[in-house]
Amino acid sequence: MQYGVDYYPEHWDKKDYEEHARLMKEAGFNVLRTAEFAWSKFEPRPGEYDFAWLDEAMEIWQKYGIKVVLGTPTAAPPKWLNDSKDILMRDRYGRKRAWGSRRECCANSPDYIEASKKIVEKMAQHYANNPAVIGWQIDNEFGCHNSTRCYCENCRQKFAKWLENKYSSIDELNQKWGTAFWSLTYDSFEDVILPAYNSCEPENAQSFSHNPSLDLEYRRFASDSWVDYQKIQIDIIRKYSDKPINTNMMGHFADIDYYNLAKDLDYITWDNYPQDQWNVQEHEHVSMAHEIMRGLKNQNFVVTEEQSGPCGWDVMGPTPEPGQIRLWAWQAIAHGGEGILYFRFKALHYGMEQYWYGVLDHDGIPGRRFYEIQKTGREFQKLEKYILGARNNYEVMMVRSYDNIWAHDIKKHAKGFNYHDIEYAFFKANNDLNIQIAVSKGNYEGYKIVYMPAYNIVDEKEMEKVTKFVEKGGVLVTSFRSGQRDEYNNIRLDTLPGAFKELAGIEIEEFDAVVKPTHICGKISSAVKVWADVIKPVTAESLCYYSDRYFKAKSAVTVNEYGKGRVYYIGCDLEQEALKNLVRMISQDAKVTISEEPEGIEIVYREGCEIILNHNDHDVITSHRGISLLDGEIFDGRLNPYGVEVLEG
Ligand code: GAL
Repeated sequence: MQYGVDYYPEHWDKKDYEEHARLMKEAGFNVLRTAEFAWSKFEPRPGEYDFAWLDEAMEIWQKYGIKVVLGTPTAAPPKWLNDSKDILMRDRYGRKRAWGSRRECCANSPDYIEASKKIVEKMAQHYANNPAVIGWQIDNEFGCHNSTRCYCENCRQKFAKWLENKYSSIDELNQKWGTAFWSLTYDSFEDVILPAYNSCEPENAQSFSHNPSLDLEYRRFASDSWVDYQKIQIDIIRKYSDKPINTNMMGHFADIDYYNLAKDLDYITWDNYPQDQWNVQEHEHVSMAHEIMRGLKNQNFVVTEEQSGPCGWDVMGPTPEPGQIRLWAWQAIAHGGEGILYFRFKALHYGMEQYWYGVLDHDGIPGRRFYEIQKTGREFQKLEKYILGARNNYEVMMVRSYDNIWAHDIKKHAKGFNYHDIEYAFFKANNDLNIQIAVSKGNYEGYKIVYMPAYNIVDEKEMEKVTKFVEKGGVLVTSFRSGQRDEYNNIRLDTLPGAFKELAGIEIEEFDAVVKPTHICGKISSAVKVWADVIKPVTAESLCYYSDRYFKAKSAVTVNEYGKGRVYYIGCDLEQEALKNLVRMISQDAKVTISEEPEGIEIVYREGCEIILNHNDHDVITSHRGISLLDGEIFDGRLNPYGVEVLEG
């Protein structure tokens, strides 16, 4: 199992390399990731390459048995490249980004692509046969720092080609996009604009006041641009090396379609910071991020940046309390992780990330966090056979689609509507009942329940699969704002819920973007804050009714028998507790395993073992018992603050 750290020799004095390697060994690390920001060290001047500094460090790491995942350094272009070429992105106002941080480059800049190709080729040639190198990372966190969408002339031209590839003619595009509205008709693909700032919207507006088809297609194109840029690098490395290739992703981040980005990669890696300057996340949110990552290929992943200290750029997030770093690492493993690298080895005293603490503080003296990480590594080593290649026993899946994320972002339906929050609410409800829920797309086989909340854009192929799943006995749960749009982001002409109408056995008579006090009662009760569909059951049965307003006594939640299966339709947003009650009811009916434990206890069932995580800062007694695989002792259900238990199962 990969257990390691992110380490950058260019940040340190050569005389420290050996001591650092010794400490890494002592911590139990067998791998490090490096080089992903070292372009100006590798190529200090155009065409002049220097790999000696890294070779020297690598020799030391080899001596200590530490393998290397090499990052291509293209996320941080050198100054000479910026000064001599046009590599920078343009924002929606046409403004050029400024060089001086990272991720400022445009994926479609020919100059950037050319320079990237050269440095990647040189690196691949130089390191392909180095025995220390066990893998490659392409670039670093594509899309980070709001860098997915660029509005430069290169992008405009590429977008025209992208559209030409997709549409049979400009007439087809005009028709599909409805450019008749506001005289937006195009004469050629070359004519098509980018959805840049226009006069109809306030500055810094979140939503773009452009044709919604243009907006969605542009987002798809921008995402594809990075997929293509990544592929250019992959193809070069593949000429020289057959070692596995990854790129580090960002969990919930959604500007790039990660399914597409994942296709060309050998394995998924991602960066996990449960509590930093910007976010102190609920544990379910972190679990969902792991599941999003696992679900991209339905394959285990490696966390390539795991939080190991307090962190932030300007201010710091909270310091991980004793046991939390171990807990987070086990949480990652529980949800499909099979490798952990901590970011970073040692806090750096200069540069932007002075406040990003690592395994070691600035003084470099092993402390509490170091020893916790060392202990965790020993546990992983001992239980490696339960980790490597192990699968989780999922009974339920939630479908996640980037098209839907983007379409909901473009047209949010109502104030307070947030697709991410809706998906998260469903995930959390399941996770809190310790229902094993995957987050993925495309394959419905083998699950008892599939959740598609607010699944707005659904194409015919997917609909066929969903229908088959239900016909064969599966349970589908969908909700308001589902099946309403086509793939061009236009509203469908059939009665709502459009694509899901027949499966759900209902028609939506009316709907309301909720402002006035609204409630439902029946099998569950809840206040409704954002959206209310007034449902007319056709073949469905009602489970809940509105209890006030002009649609009092009309259906709010329904269930429909379809084939051998069943379809639930939830017409309104629910309070979290109510949603949990509904999920419990649906799961019990579908014979899905539920384990109700005290708050903050998470139980994950994997092939061969059961992992119990206590996310609380206090002792908790769980209902689970057994022999601990960690220490061979009898586990009586009691977990310490942030405690972890692994049981055979
Ligand atoms: C990640 C990034 C790292 C480092 C870290 C701390 O997003 O990949 O390079 O910057 O955050 O800020």
